[in-house]
Amino acid sequence: MMQISLAPMEGVVDHLMRDMLTQIGGYDLCVTEFVRVVDQLLPAKVFYRLCPELKQQGLTRAGTPVRVQLLGQDPVSLAENAVRAVSLGSHGIDLNFGCPAKTVNKSKGGAVLLKQTQGLYDIVSEVRRAVDKKHKVTAKMRLGFEDKALAIDNAMALEAAGADLITVHARTKVEGYKPPAYWDWIARIREHVRIPVVANGEIWSAEDALACQQQSHCQDIMLGRGALALPNLAQVIRGASPMSWEQVKQLLADYSGYEIYGDKGRYYPNRIKQWLGYLKRQYTQADALFEQIRTLKTAQQILPHLIGETGFKP
Ligand SMILES: Cc1cc2nc3c(=O)[nH]c(=O)nc-3n(C[C@H](O)[C@H](O)[C@H](O)COP(=O)(O)O)c2cc1C
Repeated sequence: MMQISLAPMEGVVDHLMRDMLTQIGGYDLCVTEFVRVVDQLLPAKVFYRLCPELKQQGLTRAGTPVRVQLLGQDPVSLAENAVRAVSLGSHGIDLNFGCPAKTVNKSKGGAVLLKQTQGLYDIVSEVRRAVDKKHKVTAKMRLGFEDKALAIDNAMALEAAGADLITVHARTKVEGYKPPAYWDWIARIREHVRIPVVANGEIWSAEDALACQQQSHCQDIMLGRGALALPNLAQVIRGASPMSWEQVKQLLADYSGYEIYGDKGRYYPNRIKQWLGYLKRQYTQADALFEQIRTLKTAQQILPHLIGETGFKP
């Protein structure tokens, strides 16, 4: 049976989006936005903020397990924080070796680590040593930084260090998010490791998922931007019909019902506009709706555009 995970997306896939998408269903696992680790053991509140699901056994309301992702370069600090995250209820730990963001606070992390196979090894082995074997330690990598020369060595190092699974976003850092994703490279990696490999990158439809599975020789996949462009993509890949635009609008309206504290009401308008940016890819109507609400600043102003003046029952 194919496993589908929801990709970590900083600033986009937060706990509310995870809640909504896992309720629609089809996901076996979610990975959180990265927690940046420099050289300190972070307080529990940092983990709770990025992953409020920790307060409910690390599960979304739909019951989908959530795994905290860490980003950093210092093996000892990553290990300490990994232990804390699982003790708070994270379903394993994922390590980020793909983030293209620039160095912050002297701390590297993410894709730059792909230039140093030994560094990847050191991080994963330290985290694996520290975290109880009953919890999975997984890694998410790109094919490289500038080129793909180390792709296979890096994957082998992750396995040798004790990673339980690797997810491969099939592009280099320099290739960014530009199509294509090189799914055939995932197949090359798979030939060299025995641990499970999850294929990621550029899956927008059921046809893409199938082509990705065939070219990567992986059964399991992770969905990122496609999951936002088509909110029931995981179910579509499993055989359902794509959601209608009416259903999507209802979903956007439902999203306003989530209570968000301490953001002065800006959260919803900002996130809904961001989401429409992704929805445009699948729904031509998303563009027009974006134009209608572009300058609106509150949920109250936006809602009538989603469900029509008469249909709105607060
Ligand atoms: C806005 C945005 C934020 C992302 N944040 C993270 C992150 O926090 N951690 C991570 O490992 N990958 C992150 N990614 C990469 C995605 O998890 C995924 O690997 C990538 O988008 C390719 O998959 P897709 O083509 O299905 O979107 C991010 C991607 C985007 C577009």
